[in-house]
Amino acid sequence: MKTEIGTDLLYAAALLRRGELVGMPTETVYGLAGNALDSDTVLKIYATKGRPHFNPLIVHLQDISEMSKYAEVPAFAQTLAERFWPGPLTLVLPKKKIIPDIVTGGGDTVALRVPAHSLAHELLSLIDFPLAAPSANPAGYISPVTAEHVCEQLGGKIAYILDGGTCSVGIESTVIALKQDELVVLRAGGVTLEDLKSVAGSVKLPTQATGQLASPGLLKSHYAPKTKLILGDLANLIEEHQSRKLAVLALSHLPQNAAIVASEILSPAGDLTQAAHNLFAAMRRLDAVDAELILAERMPEHSFGVAINDRLERAAAL
Ligand code: TXA
Ligand code: MG
Repeated sequence: MKTEIGTDLLYAAALLRRGELVGMPTETVYGLAGNALDSDTVLKIYATKGRPHFNPLIVHLQDISEMSKYAEVPAFAQTLAERFWPGPLTLVLPKKKIIPDIVTGGGDTVALRVPAHSLAHELLSLIDFPLAAPSANPAGYISPVTAEHVCEQLGGKIAYILDGGTCSVGIESTVIALKQDELVVLRAGGVTLEDLKSVAGSVKLPTQATGQLASPGLLKSHYAPKTKLILGDLANLIEEHQSRKLAVLALSHLPQNAAIVASEILSPAGDLTQAAHNLFAAMRRLDAVDAELILAERMPEHSFGVAINDRLERAAAL
């Protein structure tokens, strides 16, 4: 199959109506989108991504008013959606029957979000079904933040990638579950814990949640470049591994005199929002150079640093 990249919304909508998959830009990362109400299409999403069926998909809606068509919506969920949608927050809620079991990995909850990207919004307005869309990367690899990234990995497997430029947030949505009025973060992401706390008061992190895997997507090895990645304090790591060919991923600056083959600075000003925006493209570039190891700097544990560290930890967990 030949993969085209473009901005033809009508064509993308026509493909989706036919049960085909389309690469879709969102503000977080690109999604591999298909009709969420059609089991055969959803099976195609899992197959194209190489993703196990037990790891459920996020269902993307055009508008907050659609939420109650697909899930039971407690008042607290409504409040959160009103505050953060359209935007990088995914709510895990009790699912309604209309959502096929294959979307939710057989589970009785469904993950919903309204993306904040004009092309995603327009695309959703042209069709009369919601879109199931995991990040448009092969399972286990770095998420795509440009149409070209999608094409590098899924070219030949899908007919069309809608080109919405570089994703503004650059890191996936924050996934949360609601237990009574308690909010449990299943995946850190584009809405920070500080933002959630301003609305929710108490926010539980996955490590504080119950022992079992709260979200199947929290599989340890994930977001992994092909080159081995190690996370920690840069100066120490470089000293320890100085005999190897090193690539380095740093927040704002490199340690002096570091002998390295390639480096990426995520934000010269040390701004964590900008660092998140640049993270995945930088990881891809470092993965493409001839290095034996990628050494990544651990970010400060606040704001977007939490989500970046989460992705880097999983990239390192091979
Ligand atoms: O920003 C994003 O969320 C992007 C864009 C395309 O929207 N999508 C994305 O999808 O990252 P994916 O499939 O790569 O990650 C979805 C995460 C996974 O960790 C999955 O396990 C979790 O959401 N998830 C989905 N449905 C769930 C459910 N019912 N219960 C718990 N976790 C769920
Ligand atoms: Mg993903």
